[in-house]
Amino acid sequence: MLNFTFSNVTKIIFGRGVEEQTGKEAKLWGKKVLLHYGGGHIVRTGLKDRVVESLREAGLEVVELGGAQPNPRLSLVREGIELARKEKVDLIVAVGGGSAIDSAKAIGIGVPYEGDVWDFYAGKAKAEESLPLGVVLTIPAAGSESSPSSVITNEDGWLKVGYGALVMRPKFALLNPELTFTLPAYQTACGVSDMMAHIMERYFTQEGDVGFSDHLCEAALRSIMQEAPIAIAEPENYGARANIMWAGTIAHNDLLGMGRSEDWASHNIEHELSALYDIAHGAGLSIVFPAWMKYVYKQNPQRFVQFAVRVFGVEQDFHKPERTILEGIRRLEDFFHRIGLPTTLAEAEIPVDRLQEMAEKATAGDTQKLGSFMPLGQADVLAIYELCQGETR
Ligand code: NZQ
Ligand code: ZN
Repeated sequence: MLNFTFSNVTKIIFGRGVEEQTGKEAKLWGKKVLLHYGGGHIVRTGLKDRVVESLREAGLEVVELGGAQPNPRLSLVREGIELARKEKVDLIVAVGGGSAIDSAKAIGIGVPYEGDVWDFYAGKAKAEESLPLGVVLTIPAAGSESSPSSVITNEDGWLKVGYGALVMRPKFALLNPELTFTLPAYQTACGVSDMMAHIMERYFTQEGDVGFSDHLCEAALRSIMQEAPIAIAEPENYGARANIMWAGTIAHNDLLGMGRSEDWASHNIEHELSALYDIAHGAGLSIVFPAWMKYVYKQNPQRFVQFAVRVFGVEQDFHKPERTILEGIRRLEDFFHRIGLPTTLAEAEIPVDRLQEMAEKATAGDTQKLGSFMPLGQADVLAIYELCQGETR
């Protein structure tokens, strides 16, 4: 196990009605709020009005900026930075999912920075400060409510890039599972796939002596797979929604990765898909992750056997471990299908004419390796995109 420091400053307030506490929490961080949100579900459901009321009742002034779309765009971030500076806001409250939160995080680090906010994402600057950020979460998925990272799409070149710094971790996050009752089945499934991917990016490590966090990861995966079909079949099942919501936070609040080297190649490979084709991140991951597994398992078969046996209950074939491994991957694909997600590019109606271009972009023209389980160059990434076509299945 590697040495580590675990510190997660996000105060999580969880349960029915907790969005009513937005004002109380926000006023600990200032007097004037930029309320940032997405495409409109929070307007339709009345959530925005309730949050604004809570903020005003606590004596805060509110400036609003909606329009953060899935795969949030740099242009809106720049608009938010200008607005926040002009209005001299003290803090940001994001209401929504990963897209609204990530956009708010970028605005938060952009306001005090003199240069262009894309500098952070382009690796030219490091964020030393940020406006404080609070979150009202409406979709369990990205884990951005307590992660220190943000993923933004630059329309100039359709570059989807992540950046993280500890100052970007939200100060507080309000998690009411009831707010997720309105999530359509497909968005619920995409969130489930994303949180599972966050666990698997940590699970597939070459680090030894990490049995404790292995078991935590396995239990989290099994539990998510148990609750997901219930939440999809019964959208207002509080218990299923609550378990999934809490799992989504734990999947990405760093706890499960402590002492391990993490991978993240699948995420980077997926980001090219959502940048070019605007597919939901979770649906891109249900295609990429199984393909990645098929490509890399030989680097540490025992870890993949353990995954198949402990997560999916596959009977271990001691003579032919490969059978056990491939059965585990097959069952993962089956699970994704059962909750309505694609596992091939064709199922997502993504054409295959730009695989080479995506492999080049993902590896910056073969100058950057992806992942640590098996460091992947451009040719490896291309081979994984080819496996995403599913022909070998
Ligand atoms: O735009 P609105 O109207 O809000 O609708 C959203 C959006 O269309 C809808 N939605 C959200 N909550 C709802 C709801 N509809 C009905 N009822 C509700 N309660 O769902 C759609 C998706 O929302 P979005 O915020 O895009 O989803 P998600 O949380 O999956 O975020 C995805 C983004 O997060 C990034 C992804 O790359 C992607 O850009 N990620 C961020 C990470 C981080 N910051 O740590 C890590 C992740 O790996 C991920 O890369
Ligand atoms: Zn993700």
